[in-house]
Amino acid sequence: MNEFAFELRYDLWRLPTFEPNLAYPVHRWFHFKEGFSRDLVEFVVRRMGLQEGQVVLDPFVGSGTTPLTCMELGLDAAGVDASPLMVLISFAKTRLYDPERLLKIAGRLQSVAFRAQDLSSVSPLVRRAFTPETLQQLLSLRDEVMKIEDHDARAFFTLALMSAVMRCSYAIKDGSVIKIRKRKLPEFRGVFRSKVRQMIEDVKRIELRSGPAEIYAGDAREMNFIGDESIDAVITSPPYLNKIEYTRVYEIEMELFVGGSRPNLMRSYIGLSPRPGRIPPEAEGLPDSAVAYFVDLEQSLSEVLRVLRRGGRAAFVVSGGVYPGIVVEVDSVLARIAKRLGFEVERVIAMGKRVATYERVKRIGESRESVLMLRKG
Ligand SMILES: C[S@@+](CC[C@H](N)C(=O)[O-])C[C@H]1O[C@@H](n2cnc3c(N)ncnc32)[C@H](O)[C@@H]1O
Repeated sequence: MNEFAFELRYDLWRLPTFEPNLAYPVHRWFHFKEGFSRDLVEFVVRRMGLQEGQVVLDPFVGSGTTPLTCMELGLDAAGVDASPLMVLISFAKTRLYDPERLLKIAGRLQSVAFRAQDLSSVSPLVRRAFTPETLQQLLSLRDEVMKIEDHDARAFFTLALMSAVMRCSYAIKDGSVIKIRKRKLPEFRGVFRSKVRQMIEDVKRIELRSGPAEIYAGDAREMNFIGDESIDAVITSPPYLNKIEYTRVYEIEMELFVGGSRPNLMRSYIGLSPRPGRIPPEAEGLPDSAVAYFVDLEQSLSEVLRVLRRGGRAAFVVSGGVYPGIVVEVDSVLARIAKRLGFEVERVIAMGKRVATYERVKRIGESRESVLMLRKG
């Protein structure tokens, strides 16, 4: 890595993780294990010296950490995601809500009478994940939430339903698979009521100085809905190499709250569909899946270059990928690709380090989690 300025900040290891968000209002509305923290976004914003009113884009917006933090800091923000589930979540987290209005709707929802629901179109996985009673109550409430006319409020209550029902589920996310573990669960209605109460408290507590953010359903490799040179900074984290398949663990939320768009979603996920095209010379000789990953990341980097104004900055949070026998240093490969495309590589800030093993015992090196800081000259 000597070819680029390299900064070791292993003291900041928690920043690229989601954990710190669990203590922050609104950020904690959906526990997105693959997300980074509000503190990471603030750290990068300060490093870049961004000023109020400037525009920040996150082309892999996930649960909305970047735009929400920007709204707290008085920056304008936009986000893009290929997953309709993540679009729903990040949209719901980046509205400017009126708590009184939410309270009124919450009151109405509490008096909803539960009706018997037809479960024949529900998948076997979802049926196994809940008690029939929870599922009946959820579907009745979901019908009522769908009738809310105000788009923002509908997103708010959909997210509340989603978080509450997953707490009342036998499903456990274990790495990249869902496991069903029968155990005693809390009563759904009570959980929903307290979730809504907590979320409305969060709306009152969080101090937002700009917004709402623009959230787009789209592909980071082709953002034709964003104008050339219209963005001051990009702060983002694409799916990590080796960890791309995590969409499977959100299958229940997808089925219940977004509906069957999974096949398209998978095709647009970066790194999953090696498309014909030139292989980046920097990825030559790497395992096929790593090559496919860098082909897609090169396209997203080109798009970022197009939408950034001159002098604009970009921060990519990435992590090394572990293969039998080798660790692919994503930060260095991506830095080289970015340089060839015309970016100035300002520095690589390493924040995390994990010993990489193969078959759990053979030590093959270290995998780094870092922030790649770029500038459009
Ligand atoms: C690591 S997560 C981002 C997490 C985010 N920083 C947060 O704090 O929640 C990567 C996101 O990229 C999205 N994604 C994958 N392929 C994409 C594509 N081609 N275009 C846009 N988003 C994509 C995934 O749906 C996922 O939400």
